Amino acid sequence: MTSHPAIDDLSSFWMPFTANRQFKAAPRLIDSAKGMYYKATDGRDILDGSAGLWCVNAGHCRDEIVAAIQKQVATLDFAPTFQMGHPLAFEAASKVAALMPEGLDRIFFTNSGSESVDTALKIALAYHRARGEGQRTRLIGRERGYHGVGFGGISVGGIAPNRKAFSGALLPGVDHLPHTHAPEHNAFSKGQPAWGAHLADELERLVALHDASTIAAVIVEPVAGSTGVLVPPQGYLQKLREICTKHGILLIFDEVITGFGRLGTATAAEYFGVTPDLMTLAKAINNASIPMGAVAVHRKVHDAVVNAGAENAIELFHGYTYSAHPVASAATIATLDLYARERLFERAASKAARFEAAAHALRDAPFVKDIRNLGMVAGIELESRPGAPGARAYETFVKCFEAGVLVRITADILAFSPPLIVEDDQIDQIFSTVRKVLGTVA
Ligand SMILES: Cc1ncc(COP(=O)(O)O)c(C=O)c1O
Repeated sequence: MTSHPAIDDLSSFWMPFTANRQFKAAPRLIDSAKGMYYKATDGRDILDGSAGLWCVNAGHCRDEIVAAIQKQVATLDFAPTFQMGHPLAFEAASKVAALMPEGLDRIFFTNSGSESVDTALKIALAYHRARGEGQRTRLIGRERGYHGVGFGGISVGGIAPNRKAFSGALLPGVDHLPHTHAPEHNAFSKGQPAWGAHLADELERLVALHDASTIAAVIVEPVAGSTGVLVPPQGYLQKLREICTKHGILLIFDEVITGFGRLGTATAAEYFGVTPDLMTLAKAINNASIPMGAVAVHRKVHDAVVNAGAENAIELFHGYTYSAHPVASAATIATLDLYARERLFERAASKAARFEAAAHALRDAPFVKDIRNLGMVAGIELESRPGAPGARAYETFVKCFEAGVLVRITADILAFSPPLIVEDDQIDQIFSTVRKVLGTVA
């Protein structure tokens, strides 16, 4: 146990998405960070192979972002954005809009990915209602999708444990596309797998079942992250887009992970050349320095809602006390300027081949049954220990942490998404550490 004075008692903090008793019996604690590294409370440097939770794209504690936050909190700590505003909110929105695909330039601010998802779903319903199609209320998600933890997000999400305890309270009128994971066809694909575009045709089946006139929106992660890095088959997203357009269904891309450079472009939409009608964002929007999220909304969707009623009527009864919080806005402006100045998205693109090669070099490591990657994201799937799903990856995660590398795990999948400032030798260190550790796990 540590001697840090503030953490003599670990009992009060009910930790999120954590096996609390297991953790508190053997805690892993970090108390500072800089660049590519965390520092553990026992003084060890931990190389950040996951950008925290896929969010610290510029590396930790960047001076420009820290300075912007410090200045802002001392200048205007808080101001409402309901029926009034502050300049940084508008500036941050313009800067986010400038990075979006053509047309998605109306920005609604939230404080997290979960809030962005629920906001996007509500905007989709409001859009159809404003156009006189209020019966379009059905939402379509996808198996294995992760869309945060709000009731909307878990309803359209497809990760069974996240839904199970709340199953009686999920949104009605939700259906799911099948996931795209098909290792029997696509194991060890580099980049987008060749097999599986036809899985998008399942949307036609759902349209035939429910009728297009009842369906408001389809939401997918362009690259599914939290479920363990599922890269869309070639042509799949294009097909989804075509089917949505054909039936007047809004397409929402959940880019909470892929937004802001993860694939080497500002958005996955840009990477794939597929433009959704709404896009959810959070995490790297301000390098995760202050809670912040956003929904980028196509102008046609925004205008349909905002121009629908009388000029003095509130158009969308939705918003958060902290929507466009001044400090989060200042951090966003500083972060997006930093990304541009350092050409970090281009840097990610230039590192992707090296990253791919380093990940796939583990093909012959113990227990590895699949490796998949795109841009600066990779997943390595392990064979599960008989009778103990998840245990092998958990042991790998703990041993990597002890060996000075942070990786992310979900079930028996290791996920990699380092800050985009990662150097070649650090890429090598991440994967060579994992290889070594895999040689020691049971
Ligand atoms: C695709 C996606 N959507 C939504 C969320 C939820 O974001 P948050 O944890 O900020 O609520 C996440 C978080 O990992 C995510 O990956």
